[in-house]
Amino acid sequence: MKSFQLANESCPNKFILPESKRPNLSEVESLDSIPIIDLSYCHDSSPLSLEVVHKISKACEEFGFFQIVNHGVPQQVCYKMMKAITDFYELPSEERESLYSTDHTKSVRLFNYYLKVEGGEKVKCWSECFAHPWYPNDDFISFLPEQIRTQYMEAFSEYAKEIGSLGSRLLGLISIGLGLEEDCLLKKLGEQPRQRAQSNFYPPCPDPELTMGLTEHTDLNALTVLLQSQVSGLQVNKNGKWISVPFIPNAFVINLADQIQVLSNGRYKSVFHRVVTNNLNQRLSMAMFFGPNPNMIIGPIQELIDEEHPPKYRKYCFSEFLKEFFNQEGTRTMLKEAFEISHDNK
Ligand code: OGA
Ligand code: NI
Repeated sequence: MKSFQLANESCPNKFILPESKRPNLSEVESLDSIPIIDLSYCHDSSPLSLEVVHKISKACEEFGFFQIVNHGVPQQVCYKMMKAITDFYELPSEERESLYSTDHTKSVRLFNYYLKVEGGEKVKCWSECFAHPWYPNDDFISFLPEQIRTQYMEAFSEYAKEIGSLGSRLLGLISIGLGLEEDCLLKKLGEQPRQRAQSNFYPPCPDPELTMGLTEHTDLNALTVLLQSQVSGLQVNKNGKWISVPFIPNAFVINLADQIQVLSNGRYKSVFHRVVTNNLNQRLSMAMFFGPNPNMIIGPIQELIDEEHPPKYRKYCFSEFLKEFFNQEGTRTMLKEAFEISHDNK
């Protein structure tokens, strides 16, 4: 899978986006950014801070994204995770080749995102992604290249444990923000929720104006906890403008995904985001996705529906949503819309 050129070579055609899909980097808003929320007072043992709940709720309504600091996950655990994915992508590409697959039913795979353009042609994103399960977390060890297996599993199992409890805590704070019981959203994910991990690798690109590391999309699960390396590239759409998400040491980027938008009946947003490339430095990120068990029924939560707020989405089984997601592979722009209820003719 030798797909990337050196930065001083020109960008191969298969990565070049049609003009209307290019990033227009000069138009990115650099003054605005997503909120940064300090969780110091929200660890398991601390009393609940209503101020934090309020800040998170506001961030969820206005941005669908925020960064958290003082979250309680030891720095060393994050460092080891980042080191493990760095080593994975620094292996000679032959060592990763056997993991590469375009078959999305494979639960462990290395793949490239792409954008389907007019005429059905696929334009590749300037990145490599490695996705694997999280629960149960020992299920994929034999797939890993031998040279990094032990180190990766050690780093991942510690990391997954920490992010698991951080995610539950965040879902609790988000539930309270919606005026619900603390365990409401977590319960909606069901037993054995769909938890997936995905590392993303963005090599330096000779022409960042022509390519995209990850084209614009919303995340399909409920919540994403993202650890990014020191190089920025992630951008979030706010009122039609792209804003950059800066790297902050020891922070996580949190974003709401499609299922929370549906569960909250549209009050909290799953917003479009994308990753742009740069021609100097490689960038890495580790995304941990929290989603419902595929058998769970998802729909606007009863307490959030009244005469003024009629349900915006129909109920569906999460497996149906996943099917729609894979049907839309390469476009991925009308996902939740497929489950919307039309109130036009009232
Ligand atoms: C994703 C994603 C952002 C990043 O994996 O869904 O949006 O910064 N990643 O890599
Ligand atoms: Ni995403």
